[in-house]
Amino acid sequence: MRKKIVAGNWKCNTNVSEGIELAKAVDKLTAKEAANDVVVILGVPFTHLTKVVESVDVNRIGVAAQNCAAEAKGAFTGEVSAEMVKSTGADYVILGHSERREYYGETSEILNKKLALALANGLTPIYCCGEPLEVREKEQQNVFVKNQLEETIFKLSVEDFKKLIIAYEPIWAIGTGKTATSDQAQEIHAFIRETIANKFGNEIADDVSILYGGSCKPGNAKELFANKDVDGGLIGGASLKADDFLGIINGF
Ligand code: 13P
Repeated sequence: MRKKIVAGNWKCNTNVSEGIELAKAVDKLTAKEAANDVVVILGVPFTHLTKVVESVDVNRIGVAAQNCAAEAKGAFTGEVSAEMVKSTGADYVILGHSERREYYGETSEILNKKLALALANGLTPIYCCGEPLEVREKEQQNVFVKNQLEETIFKLSVEDFKKLIIAYEPIWAIGTGKTATSDQAQEIHAFIRETIANKFGNEIADDVSILYGGSCKPGNAKELFANKDVDGGLIGGASLKADDFLGIINGF
C-alpha cells in the first residue's frame, strides 16, 4: 500500500554533535506528537549515519544517506559505497538529487550504477527528479521529467521498481522560498504516476509514494499533502529545525 512519508534532507549541514542533537529532538517530538502512520526518515551526512542510527528509535525513524558511490569498492578515494551505508544501519539512500546532478555532474548513467548498487545492498532509494526554471517557463516539465524517468528508474525490473520512493523536486523551488502551488504539485505528481502506470501498470503506479520537495514548510505542508498524488515531502531547510519538521509531518 502507498505510504505517507516525510523525509528530511539535511544536506551539508550540522556537525556530528549538532546532528545527534537534532536527531534526538526529532525522535522525542515524533514519539509524542506525530501520527504513527507517517514514515519519518532523516537524510543525514555520511559522517553522522552510525550515530544517528544509535540516537533514534529505528522502529519509528528511518535513516538515509544522501548519496552513495557508483562503484562497489576499491580505489575510489573519498567515495562511500552502498555496502558501507547499509553497514551503518541506514536503510535508505537519496539518489539523483538535483544538487548532485548539477554540481557533481551526476548523469543518468552514473545514477543507474548507484541505483543498482543501492538495491543490491538492500537500501531503499529515494529517487529524485524535477526540472529547472527554464524548463518550467517553457512548460516542458512533463517531457523533461519523463525523460529523467525513462533514462533511469524505468530501466529497473518491476521487482526493483516496487522498492523505490520517488521525490519530485522542482529545482526552481528548492531553497528559494518559492513553492509550487498545490495545483502545480498535484498536476505533475499525477503526470508522474500516469507515466509509471503506462510503463509498469496501474497497481504499481498506485503503490509508489511520490514525495514533493521544494520549500515545503509547516505552513504549506497541509495544502500540499491534501493532494491525492502527493504522498509526503522531501524536506531541506525546514528539516533542520525539529519543530518545523514535526509541523510538516503533522501536515497529514
Ligand atoms: P528546501 O526544502 O530547502 O527547498 O529543499 C528541498 C530539497 O532539496 C530537499 O531535498
